[in-house]
Amino acid sequence: MPVDRKSLFKRVPSGIPGFDDLIEGGFPENTTVLVAGGTGTGKTTFAAQFIYRGAELYDDPGVFVTLEERAKDIRREVKSFGWDFKKYEDEGKIVIIDGVSSSVGLPSEEKFALEDKFNVDNFLRYVYRVVKSINAKRLVIDSIPSLAFRLAEERQIREVLLKLNTILLEMGVTTVLTTEAPAPQEGRISRYGIEEYIARGVVLLDLQERNIELKRYLLIRKMRETKHSMRKYPFEITSDGIVVYPSGEIY
Ligand SMILES: Nc1ncnc2c1ncn2[C@@H]1O[C@H](COP(=O)(O)OP(=O)(O)OP(=O)(O)O)[C@@H](O)[C@H]1O
Ligand SMILES: [Mg+2]
Repeated sequence: MPVDRKSLFKRVPSGIPGFDDLIEGGFPENTTVLVAGGTGTGKTTFAAQFIYRGAELYDDPGVFVTLEERAKDIRREVKSFGWDFKKYEDEGKIVIIDGVSSSVGLPSEEKFALEDKFNVDNFLRYVYRVVKSINAKRLVIDSIPSLAFRLAEERQIREVLLKLNTILLEMGVTTVLTTEAPAPQEGRISRYGIEEYIARGVVLLDLQERNIELKRYLLIRKMRETKHSMRKYPFEITSDGIVVYPSGEIY
């Protein structure tokens, strides 16, 4: 009898229409997935959708660590997709950790915020505490480069990512990390060239010119424990968020 692969690993649906069909129903539970892409390719939207739909459709508590944009800017931006983060924050199902205000020396108006004196161990400890406090099943860190900029030396990022990886496995969360993708000719997938090694899945978001128009594409570069194709799939950012077209032709 053929093995029903879906039953082998518990799946965590991304909440992105069309995408889960490409990865046997969702991310393998308790894995770290890297979403890499250039600027404006949809990394933050992907990550926010994972958290929001997780709470809305699957009742999964989630933590969103924002290191690039203030929490209030994220809340405002995702409203354009009809996502009311505040509602789930009030219910204790979503927490946004503001990692921006402190980095520019402003007091945060947020309930959950990083301290001004950034220190890796404190950062990891704080995220761990918040994840445990709401029993989060999903976690986002947006983004790795902005985390690296907060370190005394950028090359410490390697050590931080290895530590982070162990802690994530320990916490039992399914995590989306976002990172910048260098130009393809550089031959690396991610900015530091280490992110993809700690991640068990890598999703690349891309913009390509077709008939004087930029089109969005997504490639599942790796997803352990999962049968997936290596083709690029078109996707769109719509008023409901990201939608992937699994049978869509490259247009
Ligand atoms: N309501 C919306 N409807 C359709 N498209 C939108 C909407 N809001 C944003 N977008 C598109 O999404 C893009 C931004 O996506 P997002 O912020 O997720 O990208 P990113 O990869 O995180 O970018 P950055 O490098 O700036 O962090 C915008 O440039 C715009 O094209
Ligand atoms: Mg972003």
